[in-house]
Amino acid sequence: MKTTVIAVDGFASTGKSTLSKRLAKALDFTYMDTGYMYRAVSYFALTTDFIQEDVIQEQALEIALSETSFSWSTNADSKQMLFNGKAYGDELRTLEISSWVSRIAQLGFVREHLVNQQRILSQLGSVVMDGRDIGTVVFPNADFKFFLIADPKVRAQRRFDELQAKGEDVLFEEILKNVIDRDHQDSTRAISPLRKAEDAVEIDTTSFSVEEVFEQMLSAVKA
Ligand code: DC
Repeated sequence: MKTTVIAVDGFASTGKSTLSKRLAKALDFTYMDTGYMYRAVSYFALTTDFIQEDVIQEQALEIALSETSFSWSTNADSKQMLFNGKAYGDELRTLEISSWVSRIAQLGFVREHLVNQQRILSQLGSVVMDGRDIGTVVFPNADFKFFLIADPKVRAQRRFDELQAKGEDVLFEEILKNVIDRDHQDSTRAISPLRKAEDAVEIDTTSFSVEEVFEQMLSAVKA
């Protein structure tokens, strides 16, 4: 059976996950959030003392990571990704995790492990994957590729509203700094930097609603 891969890459808080989820639902594909995987590894590193006094204990983390894996939960109506058998939620979306994740995502052994896991996890059927390197590295032959961009202030505002709604005590300036720092770290790292694949469709989501961007993406896929 022919399966389809839709890659949705782009900068932080451009709407990638909301749009990818909607696209997956509309097409009856599996949604795979690869940022969740980098966040889960960051959470693992922070909570198991592989980060000490602001230094990542790389060798120890590499050994421990090789014994971890991601899988799909077998819940009847929604597929959820598990890390070592456990589902994670808001604990992966705090500002602390967001501040560490780009550093964790720069490590070659982390990327190698997660790219492998992503290829394994996508074998169960058609997928919409959101991330930074899906169209360039994980699936360079993806059937459809989108690259989302948006003004950093608008992205920071979206993130700020999201965290405030969850009751996190955050400052807008802190969020804006994190968005700008992550853009820089993600696009200048040595391994698999964030960049638009040549054949990706670029969409600037700054002044469009989710609905409008969703319609653009859906019609590109259905064309
Ligand atoms: O999509 P997100 O904001 O949850 O991703 C968190 C971080 O993970 C992002 O700043 C960079 C990293 N990441 C990556 O390097 N490659 C991916 N495919 C997905 C995320």
